[in-house]
Amino acid sequence: MKMSQISLAVFCLLIGLALQVLPSHAQNSQQDYINAHNAARSLVGVGAVTWDEQVAAYARNYANQRSGDCRLVHSGGPYGENLAGSTGDLSGTQAVQLWVNEKADYNYNSNSCAPGKVCGHYTQVVWRNSVRIGCAKLNQDNEEVSSDEDSEEEEDTGMGEVDVEALIIQPSNAQNSQQDYLNAHNTARAQVGVANINWDASVATYALNYANSRKVDCNLIHSNGTYGENLAKGSGSFTGTAAVNLWVAEKQHYDYNSNTCVGGQCLHYTQVVWRDSVRVGCARVQCNNGWWFVTCNYDPPGNYVGEKPY
Ligand SMILES: *[C@@H]1O[C@H](CO)[C@@H](O)[C@H](O)[C@H]1NC(C)=O
Repeated sequence: MKMSQISLAVFCLLIGLALQVLPSHAQNSQQDYINAHNAARSLVGVGAVTWDEQVAAYARNYANQRSGDCRLVHSGGPYGENLAGSTGDLSGTQAVQLWVNEKADYNYNSNSCAPGKVCGHYTQVVWRNSVRIGCAKLNQDNEEVSSDEDSEEEEDTGMGEVDVEALIIQPSNAQNSQQDYLNAHNTARAQVGVANINWDASVATYALNYANSRKVDCNLIHSNGTYGENLAKGSGSFTGTAAVNLWVAEKQHYDYNSNTCVGGQCLHYTQVVWRDSVRVGCARVQCNNGWWFVTCNYDPPGNYVGEKPY
């Protein structure tokens, strides 16, 4: 009975995304979006934006178009546009905050982003001539927050278009140790009665070698080795724990009875909780573009077709 390693062939793409950290109340009103923008603008002496219903309708329309895949792909329309997405609940205010957090990487004098960093979402937020905004949020399993901003006058920032981004709220402490990876895995495993997984140095070496080889492009391409493998990447200070949590968040899509994914990906999750995968090694490297690439390898591999993880 030879397996096909589904995790290798099919599940190459993992979304970077924003993890929910903040608060309980909604913060998705027009005023919330306006406030979050204007707070950042006033800090740099830029006048307020106002809400524009036509721009907002555009944002809503486009957000709805993405409800099928929730990908952070720009609409290519006439407006400036910032996008954010999350597995957990991400409020409109939090999305704007993610963009504003890029301020740390914006150098006003050179009008450029720090090497390898993204700051174009922030510059759009505080762009003086963008005077009207409209935002929309999709409430789904996945969600997307989109903010379109209407500039009265186009200028070239020299920073290029803001591209599809995955943004991460910076956690306060590192969370990239062996124990952090193990804890994140073993918490998920314990929840379904699966024994702990252990760290394995040679698996970790494999993970590190492969991660290093992806520094140049940061692409979520599987190594196709003999281990099971989960990949993720994210900007900001995307941590190992954050990566594992992304995979574990797929639990909601795993239907144990039918042993299938329903409504979304789940095979990163099933690899995390795969009972027979008893050794793990993970690595996290910073890619040349500033993003963090995280890989965990599992021995023996999981996701054997026709077998349940536990
Ligand atoms: C692994 O296999 C996939 C599918 O054939 C391929 O696209 C990918 O480039 C391979 N990975 C490496 C590191 O060669």
